[in-house]
Amino acid sequence: MSSLRSARWFEAATRMGHTHRQRIMQGGFARADFAGKPVVAILSTWSDLNPCHGHFRERADDVKRGVWEAGGFPVEIPVMALGEPFVKPTAMLYRSLLAIQTEESLRCHPVDGAVLMGGCDKTTPGLILGAISMNLPAIFLPAGPMLTGRWRNQALGSGTDTAKAFMDWKAGVLPDAEFREMEEAGARSPGHCMTMGTASTMTALAETMGLTLPGASSIPAPDSRHRHMAVATGRRAVEMIAADLRPRAVLSDASFHNAIVALMALGGSTNAVIHLVAMARRLGLALPLDRFDSLSRRVPVLADLRPSGRYLMEDFFEAGGLRGLLSRLGDLLDGGARTVSGRTLAEDIAGAKVWSDEVIRTRADPIKATGGLAILRGNLAPDGAVLKSSAATPGLLRHRGRAIVFEGWADFAARVDSADLDVDETCVMVLRNCGPRGTPGMPEWGMMQVPKKLLDRGVRDIVRVSDARMSGTHFGTVVLHVAPEAALGGPLALVRDGDIIELDAEGRSLDLVVPEAELARRKAAWRPQSSRHGRGWAKLYADHVEQADRGADLDVLGPTGESPEPEIN
Ligand code: FES
Repeated sequence: MSSLRSARWFEAATRMGHTHRQRIMQGGFARADFAGKPVVAILSTWSDLNPCHGHFRERADDVKRGVWEAGGFPVEIPVMALGEPFVKPTAMLYRSLLAIQTEESLRCHPVDGAVLMGGCDKTTPGLILGAISMNLPAIFLPAGPMLTGRWRNQALGSGTDTAKAFMDWKAGVLPDAEFREMEEAGARSPGHCMTMGTASTMTALAETMGLTLPGASSIPAPDSRHRHMAVATGRRAVEMIAADLRPRAVLSDASFHNAIVALMALGGSTNAVIHLVAMARRLGLALPLDRFDSLSRRVPVLADLRPSGRYLMEDFFEAGGLRGLLSRLGDLLDGGARTVSGRTLAEDIAGAKVWSDEVIRTRADPIKATGGLAILRGNLAPDGAVLKSSAATPGLLRHRGRAIVFEGWADFAARVDSADLDVDETCVMVLRNCGPRGTPGMPEWGMMQVPKKLLDRGVRDIVRVSDARMSGTHFGTVVLHVAPEAALGGPLALVRDGDIIELDAEGRSLDLVVPEAELARRKAAWRPQSSRHGRGWAKLYADHVEQADRGADLDVLGPTGESPEPEIN
């Protein structure tokens, strides 16, 4: 019997070995197609309800071509597609479920390695988390960004420009007919959001961490070069099985250092903080929030990409893409980190060039000298909170204002546009009970819409604080991921209308200006809300999910304990 893992299924001289061979041939494959070959699982997050992955059936065929060419046997296995706009209350509720599907799909099947096909927000971390835990040779194929939205000779960016147009429409500045026209023009091809939102951030970080072939994350989804990359990824998967190159041999503390450096230089999504912490925890590596903050103080924002800047992913690709950006970061990176190419990161980016200093700025002329993200602490967020300072209003980064508290999304939606809402632009809007356990699932509700009465007066930003997350495509002075969350009785649960909240982004503080004795009184009187979820996945999730500063993964999915190989009869 060969040393391949799949040989336990296909080469056994047993009754079930006979069945395994017979049933593979039932699929139309001859014995010579699979006998003795490494089996590559292609985990695809395709669905009609994930249009970001609309090209994945064709791409899976491209990956298969590469696997066949290299002498492997490809098998496609569908996993949860998690189309970000459609999955409610939030795709984040299912990130760990996709991770479980990934890990268990690999464990229970006769496969030797995997190509992970993802890109739309939670699919990238979900697939990678599962692959880390299963630890078979695995390589990630990013979906690639969709084409730039175009409307009336303007470039439209996913999420970012939708949010701006929505505010203008609501304020009566943009007529209905134009708003509908814009709606039709904003997403005109397969591919993930083409702003530097969570999808572009996480696929770029997957590449930086060495989990893709060099250059894979920046290629637009419909570009023929994306197909070439899919074929090359399939080929490489077979080579990785031969070399026994597994995620735990690729990923190290240096990989996470490099990912955080890239996150800051990209002006990337706040969601990356949660996903990177969760990945590190699967590996048993410590990745405290303060590590993000200390690198944020050293790394300049170089990518001029929306929502922090002006350009979109097609421009970034033409400007040299991620390899170009990384080549500008030089000594800030740990070039010795390993990658799935079998080389080091420094070797993978050697010779990369930047073709536009406007889109990818030089370190001498950055978008922002430091501080893409800030980690805040204080009596309102003892375990931390996150602010994307590169996408905030500079004048609000140091602010003191009166709190207006919303108990959850239903309360917010019911009152935000009410003429009676006692709000002005100096207020701080607070949304709570939307953390990992609260909803559950920690939805992207933190970028609460600005109240209509302020929009009508031309106000487009206001300080907002919540235990929720924010779409990576959005902008504003929005403090997120407050931990511990309100549903656990964290200090956010104790805020009352009219309390003063102080934000100091430079000083990294977030405080509730209420005497300690009064807070202690409120805490003693606090009672948890009863959960609406008495069964099923939502209950399992809420019972086991960890807090945002620990990656919001399930406690049973940590690095310790054992998941043995399946017994085969
Ligand atoms: Fe799929 Fe944004 S909706 S990446």
